[in-house]
Amino acid sequence: MPNHQSNRPYFRPDQIFGCNANYDRNFDDLAEKFCRNIYGSTKGKLRQIIVNEDLDNWLNSTTIAQKGQLNIIEAGGGDGRLAIEWAQKGHKVTFCDLSHEMVKRAESLAKSEQVDHLVTCIHAPAQLLSKYITQKADIIICHAVLEWVADQPSFLRALCNCLAEDGTLSLMFYNADAAFFRNTIMGNLKALVKGEVKRVDNSLVPMYPLSPPVVYDLIESLGLSIKTKTGVRVFHDYLHDPKLKINEFEALLALEQRYCREFPFVHLGRYIHVLASRESSVRHDI
Ligand SMILES: C[S@@+](CC[C@H](N)C(=O)[O-])C[C@H]1O[C@@H](n2cnc3c(N)ncnc32)[C@H](O)[C@@H]1O
Repeated sequence: MPNHQSNRPYFRPDQIFGCNANYDRNFDDLAEKFCRNIYGSTKGKLRQIIVNEDLDNWLNSTTIAQKGQLNIIEAGGGDGRLAIEWAQKGHKVTFCDLSHEMVKRAESLAKSEQVDHLVTCIHAPAQLLSKYITQKADIIICHAVLEWVADQPSFLRALCNCLAEDGTLSLMFYNADAAFFRNTIMGNLKALVKGEVKRVDNSLVPMYPLSPPVVYDLIESLGLSIKTKTGVRVFHDYLHDPKLKINEFEALLALEQRYCREFPFVHLGRYIHVLASRESSVRHDI
């Protein structure tokens, strides 16, 4: 695999790609903190709006929506809120997560929202999903998981094996380059020159971050073609005055919406959301 990150602190040696799900980050001990920090914040709100816009645009510009009820897989779905949103629109969702705590949350949300008949929750690594499904997916959603997985090529290959011929992968991943950029402007210069990145064990800073070109290569090596790229939080994390995130959220959102799909802003995003499908399978106008 090409190495786009050789001198950067987030570079990981290739040998880590030989690992399996035992090295992936199970969120049992992070579930509470993650749900509070991400879903309940401007980060989560922005992410939800931008990614939903991508998915809505995609559905409106392809023939997928004509199928009616879609068969959706969400891999590493956290507390299940996105899976439940799809079920509320009438789609069938198979949800999996490595964390039992997260699966329990998803099951209970599906029940309380009365969509449990449409949602199948599986406590398993996504690498084993093909053992559990009877039908390949029209859409596979995998958001903010890749950077917690040790063997990323095998993980993505396993997801692709569950994708229908005309299916679409919605992959959102942590952007190591944007994190590096933010670290420099925060003034962590000496540490960065030495290649040191501070990370504590129970932190929400991903363990296996990748540079976007590496992820793009991985996706394409699986025979998928990338249709759209969107930066998630292209300005949010760089604001000098954090109060603006709350006090001027509407203006911030408007700027994010205007620039998040334009270069160079896409690659400033703390996360990148990619929609990919097999080359000839889906008609798209985006
Ligand atoms: C950062 S959370 C993201 C949750 C959700 N997708 C979201 O965007 O809010 C990462 C999730 O991936 C799960 N995870 C990590 N490795 C996994 C694997 N190999 N298979 C399935 N889930 C995994 C973790 O347990 C955790 O719930």
